[in-house]
Amino acid sequence: MKKTAFLNLTRHSNRLLEETSAAVRRVLERGHFILGEEVAAFETEWARYCGARGAVGVANGTDAITLALTASGAVAPGRGDEVLTTPLTAGYTALGILNAGARPVFVDVDERSLNLDPEKIEAAITPRTRAVLPVHLYGQPAAMEKINEIAARRDLTVIEDAAQAHGARCGGKACGAASLAATYSFYPTKNLGAFGDGGAIVANDADFLERARILRQGGHREAFEAEVAGRNSRLDELQAAILRVKLQKLDAWTARRRELAAIYFEKLKNLPRLTLPANDPEAVFHLFVVRHPERDRLRDFLAARGVETLVHYPYLLHEQKLFRGAGQKSLPVAEKAVGEILSLPLYPELEDEEIETVCAAIAEFEG
Ligand SMILES: Cc1ncc(COP(=O)(O)O)c(C=O)c1O
Repeated sequence: MKKTAFLNLTRHSNRLLEETSAAVRRVLERGHFILGEEVAAFETEWARYCGARGAVGVANGTDAITLALTASGAVAPGRGDEVLTTPLTAGYTALGILNAGARPVFVDVDERSLNLDPEKIEAAITPRTRAVLPVHLYGQPAAMEKINEIAARRDLTVIEDAAQAHGARCGGKACGAASLAATYSFYPTKNLGAFGDGGAIVANDADFLERARILRQGGHREAFEAEVAGRNSRLDELQAAILRVKLQKLDAWTARRRELAAIYFEKLKNLPRLTLPANDPEAVFHLFVVRHPERDRLRDFLAARGVETLVHYPYLLHEQKLFRGAGQKSLPVAEKAVGEILSLPLYPELEDEEIETVCAAIAEFEG
């Protein structure tokens, strides 16, 4: 039986072998591995791509969240500061908040987008709430206009976790354009992924960017002179050189993701028990997540036909011991969704005939 993999990174890296090898070679020949010209050039190119004043390359997307929160000054350890976020995201979102010394407080998601529901934010605000951290989950833009409006009125900082949303837009604006910052992960499976770990903070405020730059380098403005308690969290030259090669292809990859999503939308539209994701023209389809009341049976059926699927995410964060705070309310929309969501294969190198196989298997399941 022919297998349809959820993701095939070998296919991806093999197609890039020559260009990325040349980039790696360039770095080795130069012999400068940390905070050199590749990182500086990538930061400029990534900021330009995001339509922002600047970018700060860091070690990963989790640190990007932590350092952005710290650089914002909104949260500090030991004060009981709270940050509102979604329960349906990678645990790293909440870990990034914890690492900044704050406490994540989870707000329910919107039924349609599965992103933070702006209508539920105000009820979760307490005197300790300092920031809101929406996630553009699956590459679907969160409701930034409403979130920013509430945050401005209630004097809260907004930082967007755009780890799954490279190139997505929110109401015509780039992620982070109307809030303090957007944070990115370049984990290898992301829409723009390194061949290792990487992350970035993107923003328009020059002072904030400068603070983030100091924090990512142990808190040093000048070498060896510690100013604040930062982290050691740097994007390295090899990853930056690889990301520069890959950035040139991101628009074409996003176009292919949208093309594949359009095939799913067309082929799966008449299956009444299957709920398709929001067909938002600004989404970048990091993942294509459907809902089905018999998710586990559907998943087993597809596996038996060689189609690999995943669940993003099988556990909600507000139900996990590490993150659950006293007084955390139940979140019914997320709690229903978590048993129904299923991520189908979607990545730029997925072939047309493979997506046809996935669609045919789902149609067969639905009889
Ligand atoms: C939504 C989200 N936030 C944060 C992260 C953390 O990124 P990283 O793995 O680069 O630390 C990830 C990826 O793992 C993610 O998907």
